[in-house]
Amino acid sequence: MSPSLFCKLALGALAVPSAVFAIPAPATFDRQVPGETTSVNTRAGPIKILIGNDDGWAEGNIRQLYADAQQAGHDVVLSAGAKNGSGSSSLNIAFGKVSGAEYGTIPDGAPQAGFNQTDPRLNYFNGTPVAAIDNGFNVLTKKFWGGAKPDLVLSGPNVGSNLGAITLFSGTVGVANYAVKHQSVPAIAFSGGDETRIPYTALQPGDVSHVYSQLAMTITNQVISSTPFLPAGVSLNVNFPKTSANCAKAEDFKFVFTTIYPLVPTIGCTESVRTPTEADVIASNACLVSISAMGSHKLDVDTAKQTTVFNKLSPILSCADVKDHILSSILPLGTVLGRRHDLEDGVAGTVEGIVDTL
Ligand SMILES: *[C@@H]1O[C@H](CO)[C@@H](O)[C@H](O)[C@H]1NC(C)=O
Ligand SMILES: *[C@@H]1O[C@H](CO)[C@@H](O)[C@H](O)[C@H]1NC(C)=O
Repeated sequence: MSPSLFCKLALGALAVPSAVFAIPAPATFDRQVPGETTSVNTRAGPIKILIGNDDGWAEGNIRQLYADAQQAGHDVVLSAGAKNGSGSSSLNIAFGKVSGAEYGTIPDGAPQAGFNQTDPRLNYFNGTPVAAIDNGFNVLTKKFWGGAKPDLVLSGPNVGSNLGAITLFSGTVGVANYAVKHQSVPAIAFSGGDETRIPYTALQPGDVSHVYSQLAMTITNQVISSTPFLPAGVSLNVNFPKTSANCAKAEDFKFVFTTIYPLVPTIGCTESVRTPTEADVIASNACLVSISAMGSHKLDVDTAKQTTVFNKLSPILSCADVKDHILSSILPLGTVLGRRHDLEDGVAGTVEGIVDTL
């Protein structure tokens, strides 16, 4: 941020006496790139979408997803942390007045909650990622939707992958899990392997934030193409691989149904071996996006729910790519274990207890 912008923001703070802080948007500082045209299909019509993340409200990834969801005609509100809250899992803590906001977007000393004066649907909350989405549900739904809950919560795309056991610590996953577990609202957590942080002011057409956002919208559109969007208690954990010369634009990517952990029954394309894990798919370096069905305990859901999700997503899933790029490299755990495992009824309770106290 330029010194002059910071000065204007600081002066704006003095000019706003209310408890809620509105960030003025200097006309000279509008470098936000509008969403590129996507092959978005809004068959289900506009829906109410609440967007959060754990990297902070000014991260390019979340701003681009916000822009693309709006461009697709949805009724979108963003509620995310004033600063990076990576690794906060399901912690729900408010921090009070702002200090050290992401990319200097909010002056130190600003109130705990505030919004962009030009676009009040862009909201920050100085707290953990879950505290920010909690504020979205408890406060912003009244402001924008007459108290109605969102139809869907989107989280991310996170800067960095959230695969396997790492999901337990992810604030991005924590946000999606909060929606499903505490608000009974379906949710999708998106994470991307590319760890380049892009301030929203530096977004450029075709950059990684645009690619991830387009991929996120493709999945979102399939999820909202019919109701219920997802089975009760289920969120999706989605991971995009890093972009590369071969995987440079959204059209280069395919979607694969995965599990978070390997110890679950086989669902989907692979009859003889287990369903590939998220990690199997991302490690394949074959421009494949992993999609897992997560329960409110942050583990894989049972076979019936996985099958429901697989069937719903099947129009966008690629079995050919599983066979070509992944099948040969995964162990047939189904035969090793000799019986079906249902994590939902197994260690789930224990893990849930741990995660809730993080
Ligand atoms: C507020 O929104 C305006 C309009 O989209 C934008 O130009 C400005 O950069 C935004 N500021 C912040 C901090 O989000
Ligand atoms: C965000 O927070 C995480 C966890 O504290 C840390 O590892 C990461 O480096 C932070 N990123 C930035 C850009 O500050």
